[in-house]
Amino acid sequence: MANIRVEIAGLQFRNPVLTAAGPTSRDGMTLLTAATGGVGGLVAKTISVKGAEVPRPNMAAIGRGRVPSRRGMLNTELWSELPPEQWIEKEYAIAKSSGLPLIASVGYTPEEVSKLAPKMEKAGVEAIEFSTHYVGGHVEIAKALRESVNTPIFAKLSPKVDVTEVAKSLEKYVDGIVAINTYGPCLRIDIETGQPMLGGDMGQGWLSGSALKPIALRCVADISKAVDIPVIGVGGVSSGEDVIEFVMAGASAVQVCTAAILEGHTIYGRIANETEVWLNVHDYDSIDEIRGVALKKLTKLQPPPMIDHEKCTVCGLCVKSCVYGAITADREQKILHIDSEACEACGMCISVCPYFALSYQ
Ligand SMILES: Cc1cc2nc3c(=O)[nH]c(=O)nc-3n(C[C@H](O)[C@H](O)[C@H](O)COP(=O)(O)O)c2cc1C
Repeated sequence: MANIRVEIAGLQFRNPVLTAAGPTSRDGMTLLTAATGGVGGLVAKTISVKGAEVPRPNMAAIGRGRVPSRRGMLNTELWSELPPEQWIEKEYAIAKSSGLPLIASVGYTPEEVSKLAPKMEKAGVEAIEFSTHYVGGHVEIAKALRESVNTPIFAKLSPKVDVTEVAKSLEKYVDGIVAINTYGPCLRIDIETGQPMLGGDMGQGWLSGSALKPIALRCVADISKAVDIPVIGVGGVSSGEDVIEFVMAGASAVQVCTAAILEGHTIYGRIANETEVWLNVHDYDSIDEIRGVALKKLTKLQPPPMIDHEKCTVCGLCVKSCVYGAITADREQKILHIDSEACEACGMCISVCPYFALSYQ
């Protein structure tokens, strides 16, 4: 069996799938439940000097029905509604009873994090992640934390900043970068009433889930190329294949929030298991072997696509998605054909093929 254990800044995780700050890490019991669902390590909801006053409603899927809702969601949840004392006196201890490494999350100003972090460290959290979602000022916050605690520190970045430059500016102060937080602001309207679906300012909220994944993956790749400290990927992870993609882009581990909201706490173990199976099927002994392998290949591709006829089932999905009419399927002969004159090498067919039968190699 492939080894999927990972070590980040001295923390040992039984697998690379961690919780993310959000409602699925909102208190000690929720984190314990994640542990029973097979998660590799715990990241708690962000706390600040006062509990947040969170608007209602604060979560909405980006589409109705089973499939559209899985594309992502908007939220306006802010940080934890619980007072910081409750986390420090009770919730972290409950989470720690799982025996898994616990990363606490704190925000937001240098003064606020310096006040809270030593108490969080005393409560036994193994590392501290800081969120700059609403405030910026990354280096000042990192320095304030570095001066107040000895635990490893992780900086969680918003996709709205130049992640390469910010990661470089933080490299000497932090032990790792977490990328990314939600994107926005965004909007959804209930067409039956004309009202927004969220209760925050102007009805706006922040995007997460599958729709966010390509942005998150690009950020992880950019940061991995720019710095030598570990990167934890977060944004739209819902399967083992997503984990493989993030690790190939340089991530050491991933965090999962939206998919766990939509599917429940057993998702962590499912994703970890799928990751291990993928590695086994592809003959890897360890997840470390694939870390960053895509980074040197992020150059220009060499079209046109080629067909692996052994893998192709002639399902016709590529035929439908070819806007240039270049692909034809001979169902009787069970063979696919690409007309190289008509093919514009746009690449869409490769990305929709469920059987990995089309590629540029
Ligand atoms: C409802 C909700 C609440 C969140 N709360 C926090 C938070 O308190 N602190 C934080 O750093 N990120 C928070 N996030 C962001 C997530 O941790 C994560 O970065 C983002 O949702 C992308 O991952 P995902 O696509 O797996 O959800 C929250 C996300 C959601 C959906």
